Amino acid sequence: MALCITKLIVSTLLFTSTLFFTANSHTFSRSLLPEELGLEKEKLSHLHFFFHDIVSGRNPTAVRVAEAKMTNTSATAFGLVVMIDDPLTEGPKLSSKIVGRAQGLYSSASLNDVGLLMVQNYVFTEGKFNGSTLSVLGRNAVFSDVREMPIVGGSRLFRFARGYAQARTHSLDLKTGDAVVEYNVYVFHY
Ligand SMILES: *[C@@H]1O[C@H](CO)[C@@H](O)[C@H](O)[C@H]1NC(C)=O
Ligand SMILES: *[C@@H]1O[C@H](CO)[C@@H](O)[C@H](O)[C@H]1NC(C)=O
Repeated sequence: MALCITKLIVSTLLFTSTLFFTANSHTFSRSLLPEELGLEKEKLSHLHFFFHDIVSGRNPTAVRVAEAKMTNTSATAFGLVVMIDDPLTEGPKLSSKIVGRAQGLYSSASLNDVGLLMVQNYVFTEGKFNGSTLSVLGRNAVFSDVREMPIVGGSRLFRFARGYAQARTHSLDLKTGDAVVEYNVYVFHY
């Protein structure tokens, strides 16, 4: 009963706000109820995948796009900017099922230790999150055991997302620079 009344109130509000906005189509801003966007209960999801940073070979997925004059002589490659479209897989092998891609860039932003600025979107292509994205913005001290980066937003099923990603290097080929990184992502969303 109480639920019915709430629903009635929400639909009445929706109806009146629709009328209001037809009449005032140039209104810049308004407040609305979360229900009007279909937002119900906030959920917490855990995603687990492996990130393949392929810098070598004929088909790299991470390419150097910019550098400073000092980058090659800097012990931390300060100023390096790399654009990536890295596959994300279910298991540690590149041949395992692809669940998405990490698209964006990382750059060396630390003079005294290796600390990357990560600016990336995870674009998921499997299961219920197919077509949804998460946006990451954070610091990645790649030689630490566990690195934590904030999830600052998302799209589709991840609208209003916030959370964090934890990265652990699974394997690193010191000769080629290719790396496989295990990710655990914890995210609140609707
Ligand atoms: C720095 O090293 C890279 C890779 O070896 C090379 O492609 C690039 O031309 C070098 N840049 C400068 C400014 O020397
Ligand atoms: C993901 O969505 C795209 C676009 O709607 C669709 O073409 C594709 O088949 C979907 N993939 C899976 C695995 O469901």
